[in-house]
Amino acid sequence: MTKSWKQALSKILQNAQRDFSGGYPHYTDPDTGTWVTLPPEQTGCLQGGKWTHGNWTAGFWPGILWLSYAYTKEEKFRKWALRSIEPLKARVRDNNTHDIGFLFYPSFVLGFELTSDQELKETALLAADILAGRFISEGKYLQAWGPSDDPNLMGSSTIDTMMNIPLLWWAYDQTGNEKYYNIAKVHAKTTLLNMIREDNSSIHLVMYKPESGQLIEEKTFQGYSNSSCWARGHSWAICGFTFAYEHTGDEEFYNAACVLSDYFIERLPNDHIPFWDFDDPAIPRSPKDSSAAAIGAYGMLKLGNLAGEYSAKYAKSAQYILTSLNNNYVDHDNLTEGIVNHGCYSNPHKEGVDSCLIFGDYFYLNALNQESSI
Ligand code: GLY
Repeated sequence: MTKSWKQALSKILQNAQRDFSGGYPHYTDPDTGTWVTLPPEQTGCLQGGKWTHGNWTAGFWPGILWLSYAYTKEEKFRKWALRSIEPLKARVRDNNTHDIGFLFYPSFVLGFELTSDQELKETALLAADILAGRFISEGKYLQAWGPSDDPNLMGSSTIDTMMNIPLLWWAYDQTGNEKYYNIAKVHAKTTLLNMIREDNSSIHLVMYKPESGQLIEEKTFQGYSNSSCWARGHSWAICGFTFAYEHTGDEEFYNAACVLSDYFIERLPNDHIPFWDFDDPAIPRSPKDSSAAAIGAYGMLKLGNLAGEYSAKYAKSAQYILTSLNNNYVDHDNLTEGIVNHGCYSNPHKEGVDSCLIFGDYFYLNALNQESSI
């Protein structure tokens, strides 16, 4: 067992024995270090004319338990993971958000991959159908936010969706139904065309005309400004295009993952962990986002593993990131209930700034696993 996994497992064990009272860990309270939890049924919705995400992170705690089971082979993790996914079933028909991929991949897909439990597979396929149902065929993209019939949100598409579509790649592999593959591929092509700028930075949110796919507006929700590059969105894109390349062999997706990685690496500060938005004018007096580092490192290690010698440079950069996370961001002093500290959930909303983020912990563990397979 590696030192990093050993340290992580001590936290996971503490949390697994804790009662989250039906909620799921989301981010740690920056003052107390304890997990702020959200109920599984809390879906995205408009509040006072503004979109709120709801609970999009509930899949990651089960995902951490599944990764622990895979790593240790200890039966107790399998039992905890199975228990933890039960309340999530309440969301399987949730058609208010693209986040159905984030909810059901780490929990049900990973669980099925490790146990071959057919019930988990059926639930994950149901979730994949709901995600596929959000495809706007005339516009050639997956609607990110809001119910499918909401005219105000029908045009919304975010860079994060690239890491929701692994649910569709998986559904295609399981069923051979090309609907899933085609939707994922067409969405990725549309994102490539519209959400990566000339300088290879990424756009967080765009609005399309649903009837034509014409780009109307570039926006952001969690980034510094509409024209800035939000670090976590960019790391979702690195991972998402790497998955797209893995599942299609399409060189355009490979090139996208490479240029996005180049941009990410070039804009990292000396300690290799990005500030929350690469363009925040307050840098260096600005929050870091360790989760963007973990997600980016995972994507680049996977890219390195997939694509041979040339991509070794991405694996190398990812290893610098992981070393920095291990040395300076992992909570060695037990000040919080999470594994990796100093993530930034949302700086504009002043939520979970300088916290552990449950998805940061999940992707950190994935990155450790990818690193050990180099
Ligand atoms: N909704 C995805 C994120 O906040 O990163």
